[in-house]
Amino acid sequence: MFTHDHYHEAVEAIYSHTNLRPQIGIVLGSGLGGLADMLEERVAIPYSKIPHFPTSTVHGHHGELVIGKLAGKIVAVQKGRAHFYEGYHLQQVTFPIRVMHFLGIKTVILTNAAGGLNKSFKAGDVMMLNDHINMVGFAGFSPLSGPNDDELGPRFVGLVQTYDRELRQLTHEVAQKHNIPLQEGVYCCLAGPTYETPAEARMLRMVGADAVGMSTVHEVVVARHMGMKVLAFSSITNMVIDNLDTDHETNHEEVLEVGRIIVPKLIAILKGVVERI
Ligand code: HPA
Repeated sequence: MFTHDHYHEAVEAIYSHTNLRPQIGIVLGSGLGGLADMLEERVAIPYSKIPHFPTSTVHGHHGELVIGKLAGKIVAVQKGRAHFYEGYHLQQVTFPIRVMHFLGIKTVILTNAAGGLNKSFKAGDVMMLNDHINMVGFAGFSPLSGPNDDELGPRFVGLVQTYDRELRQLTHEVAQKHNIPLQEGVYCCLAGPTYETPAEARMLRMVGADAVGMSTVHEVVVARHMGMKVLAFSSITNMVIDNLDTDHETNHEEVLEVGRIIVPKLIAILKGVVERI
């Protein structure tokens, strides 16, 4: 269980590297690290230099917090994240979001790699989240388990207005202006690290999921607990296989490769949105 001292230690370490004071937080998922290179006046702080920050053990997930300017706004970009399947407690997975709050950040934009379930999607698409299904939560795991810190947020958190409506509207306008096709839908979070069986894929589609992945939702829950505005995107790196008549297996290399192809689309969207926040 983290205390305010832990968060303040992390904030002090970050402030010792830069005079920039970020207003917006961005989290980059698998294969999307290249997005941090677009920041101007950037300072990269390795997670190992920030007390209590969890480090990712997964190839393709860099471990640094990059602070710099994007479209004239000062942003903090988490390049790589820790996952539940790596053995971290969900309070560790979401520690960086708490720290963003203590940095004064009021809006977070999260990204992830996800498998497409909606049959109108294809690999290479960008999906903006408008809702989620938290299967890890259903299984009894929440970053909010344990005594509530009333100074940070309420015991019970409403999640109807989770993905900010105004930011979603703004994102559609930006995507349209840049001629970038933008899907919108429901993200389902599973624990991983296994990819879905075909039977699971069919089940998830039936319960209303458009995409499935292994992250993001825990961070979203913690951000909403603290009243932060949230916007989130999935890069659809593959379509989830829903039948047994194939020799193909979803694999991490393909996820990283397609993720990199999606980076320029996401850069254009993020730049346009950040500019207008
Ligand atoms: N399933 C779960 N997580 C993923 C996938 C997938 O197909 N692709 C990228 N992340």
